[in-house]
Amino acid sequence: MNIKANDARRPVSIVVIGAGNRANKYLEYAKINPDKVQLVGVVELNDIRRNKVAERFGLDASQCCSDYKTFFHNPVKSDAILICTPENMHFEPSMMAIRKGFHVLLEKPIAQTLEECIAIGKAAKEKGVIVAVCHVLRYHPYFMKIKELIDTEELGRIISINHRSSVGIDRSTHGFVRGMWRKEEITNPMLISKCCHDIDFLLWLTRTRCHKLTSFGSLRWFHSANAPKGSADRCIDCSVENDCPFSAVKLYRERREWIANFDVPEGKTIDDVIEYQLHVGIYGRCVYHCDNDVVDHQIVSMEMESEVTINFSMDVFTLKDNRETHICLTEGEIDGDETTLRVKRFCGREETVYDFSDIAGTPFHAGADLALMEDFIEAVRSSKKSLATAIDVSVESHLICYEAERSRREERIIVF
Ligand SMILES: NC(=O)c1ccc[n+]([C@@H]2O[C@H](COP(=O)([O-])OP(=O)(O)OC[C@H]3O[C@@H](n4cnc5c(N)ncnc54)[C@H](O)[C@@H]3O)[C@@H](O)[C@H]2O)c1
Repeated sequence: MNIKANDARRPVSIVVIGAGNRANKYLEYAKINPDKVQLVGVVELNDIRRNKVAERFGLDASQCCSDYKTFFHNPVKSDAILICTPENMHFEPSMMAIRKGFHVLLEKPIAQTLEECIAIGKAAKEKGVIVAVCHVLRYHPYFMKIKELIDTEELGRIISINHRSSVGIDRSTHGFVRGMWRKEEITNPMLISKCCHDIDFLLWLTRTRCHKLTSFGSLRWFHSANAPKGSADRCIDCSVENDCPFSAVKLYRERREWIANFDVPEGKTIDDVIEYQLHVGIYGRCVYHCDNDVVDHQIVSMEMESEVTINFSMDVFTLKDNRETHICLTEGEIDGDETTLRVKRFCGREETVYDFSDIAGTPFHAGADLALMEDFIEAVRSSKKSLATAIDVSVESHLICYEAERSRREERIIVF
Protein backbone atom coordinates (compact mmCIF):
# COMPACT_ATOMS: atom_id res chain seq x y z
CA MET A 1 0.00 0.00 0.00
CA ASN A 2 1.63 3.25 -1.08
CA ILE A 3 1.81 6.12 1.38
CA LYS A 4 0.48 9.31 -0.22
CA ALA A 5 2.65 12.44 -0.09
CA ASN A 6 0.39 14.23 2.42
CA ASP A 7 0.56 11.15 4.65
CA ALA A 8 4.33 10.96 4.53
CA ARG A 9 4.91 11.85 8.18
CA ARG A 10 2.41 9.45 9.71
CA PRO A 11 3.88 6.24 11.17
CA VAL A 12 4.20 3.33 8.75
CA SER A 13 1.68 0.69 9.84
CA ILE A 14 2.81 -2.92 9.99
CA VAL A 15 1.43 -6.37 10.78
CA VAL A 16 3.75 -9.11 11.98
CA ILE A 17 3.28 -12.74 10.96
CA GLY A 18 5.18 -15.20 13.18
CA ALA A 19 5.87 -13.42 16.48
CA GLY A 20 8.84 -15.50 17.62
CA ASN A 21 12.49 -14.75 18.21
CA ARG A 22 13.24 -12.72 15.08
CA ALA A 23 9.98 -10.79 14.95
CA ASN A 24 10.53 -9.48 18.44
CA LYS A 25 13.90 -8.01 17.40
CA TYR A 26 12.24 -5.95 14.67
CA LEU A 27 9.31 -5.07 16.93
CA GLU A 28 11.77 -3.51 19.34
CA TYR A 29 12.32 -0.86 16.66
CA ALA A 30 8.57 -0.18 16.64
CA LYS A 31 8.58 0.08 20.42
CA ILE A 32 11.44 2.61 20.41
CA ASN A 33 10.09 4.59 17.43
CA PRO A 34 6.28 4.93 17.72
CA ASP A 35 6.47 8.09 15.62
CA LYS A 36 7.90 6.11 12.70
CA VAL A 37 6.16 2.76 12.85
CA GLN A 38 2.99 1.40 14.38
CA LEU A 39 2.16 -2.25 14.88
CA VAL A 40 -1.50 -2.74 13.96
CA GLY A 41 -1.75 -6.52 13.91
CA VAL A 42 -0.16 -9.77 15.03
CA VAL A 43 -0.59 -13.18 13.40
CA GLU A 44 0.86 -15.99 15.48
CA LEU A 45 -0.14 -19.63 16.08
CA ASN A 46 1.28 -19.77 19.59
CA ASP A 47 -1.13 -18.18 22.14
CA ILE A 48 1.62 -17.20 24.59
CA ARG A 49 3.61 -15.35 21.95
CA ARG A 50 0.59 -13.73 20.31
CA ASN A 51 -0.78 -12.51 23.64
CA LYS A 52 2.60 -11.17 24.71
CA VAL A 53 2.90 -9.01 21.58
CA ALA A 54 -0.75 -7.89 21.80
CA GLU A 55 -0.25 -6.81 25.40
CA ARG A 56 3.04 -5.05 24.71
CA PHE A 57 1.55 -3.02 21.84
CA GLY A 58 -1.99 -2.61 23.18
CA LEU A 59 -3.68 -4.57 20.38
CA ASP A 60 -7.30 -5.70 20.73
CA ALA A 61 -8.80 -9.02 19.60
CA SER A 62 -9.72 -7.65 16.15
CA GLN A 63 -6.00 -7.04 15.54
CA CYS A 64 -4.90 -10.57 16.49
CA CYS A 65 -5.09 -13.71 14.41
CA SER A 66 -3.64 -17.17 14.86
CA ASP A 67 -2.89 -18.24 11.29
CA TYR A 68 -1.79 -16.32 8.21
CA LYS A 69 -4.21 -18.16 5.90
CA THR A 70 -7.17 -16.87 7.93
CA PHE A 71 -5.56 -13.43 8.23
CA PHE A 72 -5.29 -12.91 4.47
CA HIS A 73 -9.04 -13.53 3.96
CA ASN A 74 -9.69 -10.19 5.58
CA PRO A 75 -6.37 -8.54 6.46
CA VAL A 76 -6.01 -5.65 8.91
CA LYS A 77 -5.33 -2.46 6.90
CA SER A 78 -1.58 -1.71 6.95
CA ASP A 79 1.31 -0.54 4.79
CA ALA A 80 3.60 -3.50 5.28
CA ILE A 81 3.83 -7.05 6.59
CA LEU A 82 6.77 -8.56 8.47
CA ILE A 83 7.06 -12.27 7.68
CA CYS A 84 9.06 -14.00 10.42
CA THR A 85 7.59 -17.50 10.26
CA PRO A 86 9.81 -20.59 9.85
CA GLU A 87 11.14 -20.88 6.32
CA ASN A 88 8.66 -23.54 5.14
CA MET A 89 6.10 -20.77 5.68
CA HIS A 90 7.78 -17.93 3.78
CA PHE A 91 6.62 -18.51 0.23
CA GLU A 92 2.87 -18.72 0.74
CA PRO A 93 2.39 -15.71 3.07
CA SER A 94 4.83 -13.64 0.97
CA MET A 95 2.84 -14.28 -2.20
CA MET A 96 -0.43 -13.59 -0.40
CA ALA A 97 0.93 -10.31 0.97
CA ILE A 98 2.38 -9.19 -2.36
CA ARG A 99 -0.82 -9.99 -4.25
CA LYS A 100 -2.76 -7.86 -1.81
CA GLY A 101 -0.32 -4.98 -2.37
CA PHE A 102 1.55 -4.98 0.94
CA HIS A 103 5.24 -4.16 1.18
CA VAL A 104 7.07 -7.06 2.83
CA LEU A 105 9.99 -7.46 5.19
CA LEU A 106 10.87 -11.14 4.80
CA GLU A 107 13.15 -13.12 7.07
CA LYS A 108 15.89 -15.05 5.35
CA PRO A 109 16.13 -17.46 3.66
CA ILE A 110 13.61 -16.24 1.10
CA ALA A 111 11.89 -19.61 0.62
CA GLN A 112 12.57 -23.33 0.20
CA THR A 113 13.52 -23.58 -3.48
CA LEU A 114 15.21 -21.32 -5.99
CA GLU A 115 12.01 -21.29 -8.09
CA GLU A 116 10.04 -19.95 -5.11
CA CYS A 117 12.68 -17.27 -4.47
CA ILE A 118 12.51 -16.12 -8.09
CA ALA A 119 8.68 -16.19 -8.05
CA ILE A 120 8.56 -13.87 -5.02
CA GLY A 121 10.96 -11.44 -6.72
CA LYS A 122 8.92 -11.51 -9.93
CA ALA A 123 5.60 -11.01 -8.13
CA ALA A 124 7.03 -8.06 -6.17
CA LYS A 125 8.23 -6.41 -9.37
CA GLU A 126 4.90 -6.91 -11.12
CA LYS A 127 2.94 -5.55 -8.19
CA GLY A 128 5.42 -2.68 -7.57
CA VAL A 129 5.89 -3.44 -3.88
CA ILE A 130 9.07 -3.56 -1.82
CA VAL A 131 10.26 -6.93 -0.59
CA ALA A 132 13.31 -6.66 1.66
CA VAL A 133 15.17 -9.76 2.88
CA CYS A 134 16.71 -9.72 6.35
CA HIS A 135 20.39 -10.02 5.47
CA VAL A 136 21.38 -8.19 8.62
CA LEU A 137 25.16 -8.36 8.05
CA ARG A 138 24.75 -5.55 5.52
CA TYR A 139 23.71 -3.30 8.43
CA HIS A 140 26.29 -4.55 10.94
CA PRO A 141 29.04 -1.97 11.76
CA TYR A 142 31.88 -4.54 11.56
CA PHE A 143 30.80 -5.96 8.17
CA MET A 144 30.01 -2.46 6.87
CA LYS A 145 33.58 -1.41 7.74
CA ILE A 146 34.99 -4.26 5.64
CA LYS A 147 32.74 -3.24 2.77
CA GLU A 148 33.86 0.40 3.09
CA LEU A 149 37.55 -0.61 3.07
CA ILE A 150 37.02 -2.67 -0.09
CA ASP A 151 34.97 -0.02 -1.89
CA THR A 152 37.54 2.75 -1.39
CA GLU A 153 40.04 0.54 -3.26
CA GLU A 154 42.80 1.94 -1.03
CA LEU A 155 44.13 -1.62 -0.77
CA GLY A 156 43.73 -2.24 -4.48
CA ARG A 157 41.65 -5.06 -5.98
CA ILE A 158 40.54 -8.27 -4.30
CA ILE A 159 42.41 -11.36 -5.44
CA SER A 160 41.08 -14.00 -3.04
CA ILE A 161 38.95 -14.43 0.11
CA ASN A 162 38.88 -17.06 2.83
CA HIS A 163 35.72 -16.82 4.91
CA ARG A 164 34.71 -19.09 7.77
CA SER A 165 31.40 -19.28 9.60
CA SER A 166 31.88 -21.06 12.92
CA VAL A 167 28.40 -22.10 13.95
CA GLY A 168 29.80 -23.87 17.01
CA ILE A 169 28.66 -26.92 18.92
CA ASP A 170 26.04 -25.26 21.14
CA ARG A 171 24.19 -23.32 18.44
CA SER A 172 24.42 -26.35 16.15
CA THR A 173 23.20 -29.02 18.56
CA HIS A 174 20.41 -26.69 19.72
CA GLY A 175 19.20 -25.54 16.30
CA PHE A 176 20.54 -27.92 13.65
CA VAL A 177 20.50 -31.30 15.43
CA ARG A 178 17.67 -31.09 17.98
CA GLY A 179 15.79 -27.96 16.93
CA MET A 180 13.92 -26.21 14.15
CA TRP A 181 16.60 -26.34 11.43
CA ARG A 182 17.47 -30.05 11.79
CA LYS A 183 15.65 -31.36 8.71
CA GLU A 184 15.92 -30.06 5.17
CA GLU A 185 12.25 -30.61 4.43
CA ILE A 186 11.16 -28.53 7.45
CA THR A 187 13.46 -25.64 6.62
CA ASN A 188 16.28 -25.91 4.08
CA PRO A 189 19.75 -27.42 3.67
CA MET A 190 22.00 -25.87 6.33
CA LEU A 191 24.01 -23.86 3.79
CA ILE A 192 20.82 -22.01 2.84
CA SER A 193 19.31 -21.70 6.33
CA LYS A 194 22.45 -20.57 8.07
CA CYS A 195 24.94 -19.41 5.45
CA CYS A 196 22.90 -17.49 2.88
CA HIS A 197 24.07 -14.52 5.03
CA ASP A 198 27.71 -15.43 4.37
CA ILE A 199 27.26 -15.92 0.64
CA ASP A 200 25.33 -12.64 0.45
CA PHE A 201 28.19 -10.91 2.30
CA LEU A 202 30.78 -12.35 -0.12
CA LEU A 203 28.77 -11.26 -3.17
CA TRP A 204 28.30 -7.82 -1.63
CA LEU A 205 32.07 -7.47 -1.20
CA THR A 206 33.11 -8.72 -4.62
CA ARG A 207 30.32 -7.06 -6.63
CA THR A 208 30.67 -9.75 -9.24
CA ARG A 209 28.80 -12.88 -10.27
CA CYS A 210 29.93 -16.40 -9.56
CA HIS A 211 31.32 -18.21 -12.58
CA LYS A 212 32.12 -21.68 -11.18
CA LEU A 213 31.63 -23.42 -7.87
CA THR A 214 32.04 -26.68 -6.07
CA SER A 215 31.00 -27.85 -2.62
CA PHE A 216 31.66 -30.75 -0.25
CA GLY A 217 30.15 -31.68 3.08
CA SER A 218 28.02 -34.25 4.86
CA LEU A 219 26.31 -35.25 8.07
CA ARG A 220 29.50 -36.80 9.37
CA TRP A 221 28.95 -37.15 13.11
CA PHE A 222 25.46 -36.55 14.53
CA HIS A 223 23.77 -39.85 13.70
CA SER A 224 23.14 -43.14 15.47
CA ALA A 225 26.24 -44.94 14.12
CA ASN A 226 28.36 -42.64 16.30
CA ALA A 227 26.34 -43.02 19.49
CA PRO A 228 28.68 -43.97 22.33
CA LYS A 229 28.11 -47.24 24.21
CA GLY A 230 25.76 -46.61 27.12
CA SER A 231 24.00 -43.63 25.50
CA ALA A 232 20.21 -43.35 25.66
CA ASP A 233 17.53 -41.58 23.63
CA ARG A 234 17.48 -38.74 26.18
CA CYS A 235 20.43 -37.11 27.96
CA ILE A 236 18.72 -37.45 31.36
CA ASP A 237 18.67 -41.26 30.94
CA CYS A 238 22.22 -41.50 29.57
CA SER A 239 24.94 -43.32 31.50
CA VAL A 240 27.74 -41.45 29.66
CA GLU A 241 26.13 -38.00 29.79
CA ASN A 242 28.77 -36.69 32.14
CA ASP A 243 31.48 -37.11 29.52
CA CYS A 244 29.41 -35.87 26.60
CA PRO A 245 30.22 -32.37 25.21
CA PHE A 246 26.77 -32.23 23.59
CA SER A 247 24.71 -32.96 26.71
CA ALA A 248 21.32 -31.21 26.87
CA VAL A 249 21.45 -31.42 30.66
CA LYS A 250 24.65 -29.38 30.72
CA LEU A 251 23.49 -26.92 28.05
CA TYR A 252 20.01 -26.13 29.37
CA ARG A 253 19.85 -27.15 33.04
CA GLU A 254 23.41 -26.41 34.19
CA ARG A 255 24.72 -23.66 31.91
CA ARG A 256 21.20 -22.33 31.19
CA GLU A 257 22.14 -21.34 27.66
CA TRP A 258 19.88 -21.30 24.57
CA ILE A 259 16.75 -21.15 26.76
CA ALA A 260 15.69 -17.61 25.84
CA ASN A 261 13.08 -18.85 23.36
CA PHE A 262 11.52 -21.52 25.54
CA ASP A 263 7.93 -20.35 26.13
CA VAL A 264 6.90 -20.25 29.77
CA PRO A 265 3.13 -20.89 30.14
CA GLU A 266 1.22 -19.05 32.85
CA GLY A 267 1.72 -20.67 36.25
CA LYS A 268 4.99 -22.33 35.20
CA THR A 269 8.63 -21.29 35.60
CA ILE A 270 11.54 -21.49 33.18
CA ASP A 271 12.88 -24.37 35.33
CA ASP A 272 9.63 -26.29 34.73
CA VAL A 273 10.03 -25.73 31.00
CA ILE A 274 13.68 -26.86 31.00
CA GLU A 275 12.67 -30.05 32.84
CA TYR A 276 9.81 -30.59 30.39
CA GLN A 277 12.26 -30.28 27.49
CA LEU A 278 14.76 -32.66 29.11
CA HIS A 279 12.08 -35.28 29.84
CA VAL A 280 9.63 -34.90 26.93
CA GLY A 281 10.54 -32.09 24.49
CA ILE A 282 12.69 -32.18 21.37
CA TYR A 283 15.57 -30.39 23.09
CA GLY A 284 16.20 -33.23 25.60
CA ARG A 285 17.12 -35.71 22.87
CA CYS A 286 20.53 -37.31 22.47
CA VAL A 287 22.35 -35.75 19.52
CA TYR A 288 23.00 -39.24 18.15
CA HIS A 289 19.33 -40.24 18.33
CA CYS A 290 17.53 -37.31 16.66
CA ASP A 291 15.76 -37.19 13.29
CA ASN A 292 18.22 -34.65 11.85
CA ASP A 293 19.51 -34.80 8.29
CA VAL A 294 21.30 -31.47 7.65
CA VAL A 295 25.09 -31.43 7.23
CA ASP A 296 27.49 -30.80 10.11
CA HIS A 297 30.32 -29.46 7.96
CA GLN A 298 30.45 -27.94 4.48
CA ILE A 299 32.81 -26.04 2.24
CA VAL A 300 32.14 -24.07 -0.93
CA SER A 301 34.80 -22.90 -3.38
CA MET A 302 33.91 -20.27 -5.93
CA GLU A 303 35.56 -18.57 -8.87
CA MET A 304 33.97 -15.25 -9.66
CA GLU A 305 33.68 -13.65 -13.11
CA SER A 306 36.32 -11.15 -11.96
CA GLU A 307 38.71 -14.12 -11.33
CA VAL A 308 38.49 -13.53 -7.57
CA THR A 309 38.56 -16.90 -5.80
CA ILE A 310 36.61 -17.54 -2.60
CA ASN A 311 36.85 -20.35 -0.08
CA PHE A 312 33.99 -20.60 2.36
CA SER A 313 33.79 -23.02 5.23
CA MET A 314 30.92 -23.73 7.64
CA ASP A 315 32.18 -25.37 10.83
CA VAL A 316 30.18 -26.93 13.63
CA PHE A 317 32.88 -28.66 15.67
CA THR A 318 34.33 -25.61 17.38
CA LEU A 319 33.64 -23.57 20.51
CA LYS A 320 33.74 -20.45 18.34
CA ASP A 321 30.48 -18.77 17.36
CA ASN A 322 31.61 -16.12 14.90
CA ARG A 323 32.66 -15.28 11.38
CA GLU A 324 36.28 -14.86 10.30
CA THR A 325 37.34 -13.31 7.01
CA HIS A 326 40.74 -12.97 5.38
CA ILE A 327 40.81 -10.89 2.21
CA CYS A 328 43.93 -10.74 0.03
CA LEU A 329 44.12 -7.62 -2.15
CA THR A 330 46.73 -6.33 -4.57
CA GLU A 331 48.07 -3.75 -2.10
CA GLY A 332 47.28 -5.21 1.29
CA GLU A 333 45.21 -7.63 3.31
CA ILE A 334 42.24 -7.51 5.68
CA ASP A 335 41.87 -10.01 8.49
CA GLY A 336 38.94 -9.98 10.89
CA ASP A 337 37.03 -12.06 13.42
CA GLU A 338 34.12 -9.70 14.28
CA THR A 339 36.04 -8.46 17.34
CA THR A 340 39.16 -7.09 15.65
CA LEU A 341 39.76 -6.01 12.09
CA ARG A 342 43.41 -5.80 11.00
CA VAL A 343 44.28 -3.93 7.83
CA LYS A 344 47.86 -4.32 6.58
CA ARG A 345 49.30 -2.33 3.73
CA PHE A 346 52.14 -3.97 1.79
CA CYS A 347 53.90 -0.64 1.11
CA GLY A 348 55.49 0.58 4.34
CA ARG A 349 54.19 -2.55 6.12
CA GLU A 350 51.79 -0.38 8.18
CA GLU A 351 48.95 -1.95 10.10
CA THR A 352 45.67 -0.35 11.24
CA VAL A 353 43.61 -2.16 13.84
CA TYR A 354 39.88 -1.52 14.28
CA ASP A 355 38.50 -2.69 17.59
CA PHE A 356 34.87 -3.94 17.62
CA SER A 357 35.09 -5.68 21.00
CA ASP A 358 32.57 -3.26 22.54
CA ILE A 359 29.85 -4.31 20.08
CA ALA A 360 30.79 -7.94 19.28
CA GLY A 361 28.01 -10.26 20.44
CA THR A 362 25.76 -7.38 21.60
CA PRO A 363 21.97 -7.68 21.17
CA PHE A 364 20.15 -7.15 17.88
CA HIS A 365 23.25 -8.23 15.91
CA ALA A 366 25.09 -5.18 17.26
CA GLY A 367 22.16 -2.95 16.30
CA ALA A 368 21.96 -4.27 12.74
CA ASP A 369 18.41 -5.62 13.22
CA LEU A 370 17.21 -2.15 14.16
CA ALA A 371 19.14 -0.46 11.33
CA LEU A 372 17.65 -2.88 8.81
CA MET A 373 14.16 -2.19 10.11
CA GLU A 374 14.80 1.55 9.90
CA ASP A 375 15.91 1.24 6.27
CA PHE A 376 12.84 -0.83 5.40
CA ILE A 377 10.43 1.57 7.12
CA GLU A 378 12.10 4.53 5.40
CA ALA A 379 11.86 2.75 2.03
CA VAL A 380 8.13 2.15 2.55
CA ARG A 381 7.57 5.73 3.65
CA SER A 382 9.47 7.26 0.75
CA SER A 383 8.74 4.57 -1.87
CA LYS A 384 12.52 4.22 -2.23
CA LYS A 385 13.13 0.91 -3.97
CA SER A 386 16.95 0.64 -3.74
CA LEU A 387 17.28 -1.08 -0.39
CA ALA A 388 20.57 -2.76 0.51
CA THR A 389 18.77 -6.06 0.91
CA ALA A 390 16.10 -5.88 -1.78
CA ILE A 391 14.73 -9.19 -3.05
CA ASP A 392 16.45 -9.04 -6.47
CA VAL A 393 19.88 -8.69 -4.77
CA SER A 394 19.11 -11.48 -2.31
CA VAL A 395 17.97 -13.96 -4.94
CA GLU A 396 21.54 -14.01 -6.26
CA SER A 397 23.01 -15.36 -2.99
CA HIS A 398 20.23 -17.93 -2.76
CA LEU A 399 21.02 -19.05 -6.31
CA ILE A 400 24.65 -19.66 -5.27
CA CYS A 401 23.54 -21.59 -2.15
CA TYR A 402 21.11 -23.83 -4.05
CA GLU A 403 23.70 -24.48 -6.77
CA ALA A 404 26.35 -25.26 -4.11
CA GLU A 405 23.92 -27.78 -2.62
CA ARG A 406 23.47 -29.32 -6.07
CA SER A 407 27.25 -29.52 -6.45
CA ARG A 408 27.60 -31.24 -3.05
CA ARG A 409 24.89 -33.80 -3.82
CA GLU A 410 25.87 -34.49 -7.42
CA GLU A 411 29.61 -34.34 -6.64
CA ARG A 412 30.39 -32.07 -9.57
CA ILE A 413 31.56 -28.58 -10.43
CA ILE A 414 28.77 -26.20 -11.41
CA VAL A 415 29.61 -23.80 -14.24
CA PHE A 416 27.27 -20.84 -14.71
N1 LIG B 1 18.20 -12.69 9.97
C1 LIG B 1 18.76 -13.45 10.89
O1 LIG B 1 19.86 -13.19 11.35
C2 LIG B 1 18.03 -14.66 11.40
C3 LIG B 1 18.44 -15.29 12.58
C4 LIG B 1 17.70 -16.40 13.03
C5 LIG B 1 16.62 -16.85 12.31
N2 LIG B 1 16.27 -16.24 11.14
C6 LIG B 1 15.10 -16.71 10.35
O2 LIG B 1 13.93 -16.11 10.88
C7 LIG B 1 12.79 -16.98 10.68
C8 LIG B 1 12.09 -17.18 12.01
O3 LIG B 1 13.01 -17.72 12.94
P1 LIG B 1 12.79 -17.56 14.51
O4 LIG B 1 14.06 -17.94 15.15
O5 LIG B 1 12.19 -16.24 14.80
O6 LIG B 1 11.70 -18.72 14.76
P2 LIG B 1 10.61 -18.78 15.90
O7 LIG B 1 10.16 -20.19 15.97
O8 LIG B 1 11.12 -18.14 17.15
O9 LIG B 1 9.42 -17.88 15.33
C9 LIG B 1 8.58 -18.30 14.29
C10 LIG B 1 7.15 -18.08 14.73
O10 LIG B 1 6.25 -18.35 13.64
C11 LIG B 1 5.05 -18.88 14.21
N3 LIG B 1 4.25 -19.54 13.18
C12 LIG B 1 4.44 -20.78 12.64
N4 LIG B 1 3.49 -21.05 11.76
C13 LIG B 1 2.66 -19.98 11.71
C14 LIG B 1 1.47 -19.68 10.99
N5 LIG B 1 0.94 -20.54 10.09
N6 LIG B 1 0.87 -18.48 11.19
C15 LIG B 1 1.38 -17.62 12.10
N7 LIG B 1 2.50 -17.86 12.82
C16 LIG B 1 3.13 -19.03 12.64
C17 LIG B 1 5.59 -19.83 15.27
O11 LIG B 1 4.60 -20.16 16.22
C18 LIG B 1 6.73 -19.02 15.86
O12 LIG B 1 6.37 -18.27 16.99
C19 LIG B 1 13.36 -18.25 10.05
O13 LIG B 1 13.21 -18.19 8.68
C20 LIG B 1 14.83 -18.19 10.41
O14 LIG B 1 15.66 -18.90 9.52
C21 LIG B 1 16.93 -15.16 10.70
